Amino acid sequence: MNETEARERIAELSVIIDNHNYNYYILSQPTISDYDFDMLMNELIKLEKKFPDLALPTSPTKRVGGDITNEFPTVKHRYPMLSLANSYNRDEIIDFINRTKKQLDDESSQVEFVCELKFDGVSISLTYEHGVLVRAVTRGDGAQGDEVTNNVKTIRTIPLKLKGDYPDFFEMRGEVIMPHDSFKRINAERDDLGLQVFANCRNAASGSLKLFDSKETANRRLDNFCYYMMMDDIPYSSHYESLMAAKDWGFNISPHIKVCRTIGEIEDFINFWDVKRHELPFDIDGIVIKVNSFAQREQLGLTSKSPRWAIAYKFKAEEVKTRLLSVDFQVGRHGTITPVANLDPVQLGGTTVRRATLNNADFIKQLDLHNDDTVIVVKGGEIIPKIIGVDTDRRKADSDEIQFIRRCPQCGTELVQNEGEAAWYCPNSLGCPPQIKGRIEHFIGRKAMNIESLGEGKVEVLFDNHLINNYADLYDLTYDKLYGLEKVVTVEDEYSLMNESVTKKISFKEKTVNNILNSLMKSREVPFTKVLFALGIREVGEVTAKIIANTMGDIDTIMKATVEELQEINTVGETIAHNIREFFDDERNISIINRLREFGLQFKQEKKAATENQVLSGKTIVVSGVFANFSRDGIKQVIEDLGGKNVSSISAKTDFVVAGDKMGPEKRKKAETLGIRILNETEFMEMIGMTTAPKLTTGTLF
Ligand code: IVH
Repeated sequence: MNETEARERIAELSVIIDNHNYNYYILSQPTISDYDFDMLMNELIKLEKKFPDLALPTSPTKRVGGDITNEFPTVKHRYPMLSLANSYNRDEIIDFINRTKKQLDDESSQVEFVCELKFDGVSISLTYEHGVLVRAVTRGDGAQGDEVTNNVKTIRTIPLKLKGDYPDFFEMRGEVIMPHDSFKRINAERDDLGLQVFANCRNAASGSLKLFDSKETANRRLDNFCYYMMMDDIPYSSHYESLMAAKDWGFNISPHIKVCRTIGEIEDFINFWDVKRHELPFDIDGIVIKVNSFAQREQLGLTSKSPRWAIAYKFKAEEVKTRLLSVDFQVGRHGTITPVANLDPVQLGGTTVRRATLNNADFIKQLDLHNDDTVIVVKGGEIIPKIIGVDTDRRKADSDEIQFIRRCPQCGTELVQNEGEAAWYCPNSLGCPPQIKGRIEHFIGRKAMNIESLGEGKVEVLFDNHLINNYADLYDLTYDKLYGLEKVVTVEDEYSLMNESVTKKISFKEKTVNNILNSLMKSREVPFTKVLFALGIREVGEVTAKIIANTMGDIDTIMKATVEELQEINTVGETIAHNIREFFDDERNISIINRLREFGLQFKQEKKAATENQVLSGKTIVVSGVFANFSRDGIKQVIEDLGGKNVSSISAKTDFVVAGDKMGPEKRKKAETLGIRILNETEFMEMIGMTTAPKLTTGTLF
């Protein structure tokens, strides 16, 4: 295909794919199979690769991301992003309506209000020029925000190119949200990697918009609703009209919008959604009531913070009391013990809550939790129900305090705790069933050996049938051993903790067995860096494994290295060095590795410059506070190793601040005043690709 033909085909494919995206994501009426859609997309990706200069900035391929090192320059908003006045009771709404009517000259019957859902996400300003999305900016401090265009382009309900008769220049305001199904999936993935899970959809949406790798943002499957059009001389007389026009141009406008003329109608809308909100596939935290007419809005004006023509009615965080039935102690794959409360089932936020997390021993102490207690549970904004207190008036006089266990509930080993940490853990890593299964699951994971068709449930079946007790045993599996195995397993939805458990039958049929055996064969080709990561050495995440493999080159050198030699490697601190030594000092691990070696897995590679990963190149960074996974010097060392520059005080030249616990208030204020991005520890770790740090570590990583 020559360049002219390629240009034509790229343009044609872009239009076809855009239309399919619109049918699928906006209209929910796909007119093509997923397979055919993928074929079109693949054709476009291939053409754009071959002719990179011809790729359009609005190409639907942007939806899958690609920029690894997104920058988030600060951009001043053309129209300030104000917030809304909040109200928490119906009387305040009635006051707002009466006040509004009074301030307007019109007869009271002439004021129309538009009631909308108040989406609980992150507000975004989208600028369109000649029908093309040119900029997406977060709210920031209202006057200026971060430009996150590349990441926003991955959100399929945000049009990159508009259809129909749109104005040349305008801004669309809306909310980026994370739907519940994405939230559950992402948290499951994070938990699997040992990363802290997101507490709620809003935090997850906000974190996902600020990722340096837009491919990862694409993977988060964010969504969007638009609710406010802004431009000079808007050609519509009402908000409702403007939204209906925007819908025609391709924006995702919520269908749950109502023009109301009376207080009664507004109250009905609020009452309806106060109940029905629990059936929505995303979080809302209230209702927004807006004056419909733009002329009337003008008359009402703004305060410095919010418009006088709108108000938010916020739903109350629901709270219920229920009885504590018992406490379970779960063993995580790193051996960490998590106490979980079993509750007398109770309705909360539209679902039945049966369980709630108790975090750790300290949390139980703080609550002063006793057997049979009546506890107060909330679910406001957060998907995971939380116990926030105990109704001590209802406590029985003779009830005992809840005692944290001393021995592992799975293998009986005495639990240990590291100084200064709240978590207890089972140290029997090679003999404790959930830890054994967890390590095997880590080994087969996508970012490790990538053994397809062998998910969590199947590992359990193989373990129960005594076919695997460590990851080397996987390579002794044969067709005959696997074929015909089956088990009915109950998988609990641990992220909602609401016992939304599903029962599924796992069976090893011909195709599955062949897939497993093929993937195991193929895994002989997986490069050494990934094999080293797959071994699951405590606190050796993806990036650390890569740097160690690049520096030392082969497993024998690593096995023989002393703690001091290991510490000479960039990013390997004392704790990691000790963990590595401990791992290789255990004869059982050596014999497992020898078996893997016999099977032909990769245990060496060419040495490479250890500083290949330069994600922080050219960045000026200020570190402040105390960190869970790094010592102060350790984090600074990591920054330097990855090409960044440490400075001690914040100035306009600072790219970002990495804030740990107890960051000084002065520093925070200064960063905020200068509009400098503040990353928390998890965000920083994500930025540098350290996605595998254990949730609860036994010391500092660096
Ligand atoms: S209109 C002048 N409509 O709520 C403010 N905002 O506290 C115009 N929000 O920052 C905003 N759903 O992020 C509007 N249907 C909706 C909304 C909505 C959620 C958010 C938005 C805003 C915040 C106000």
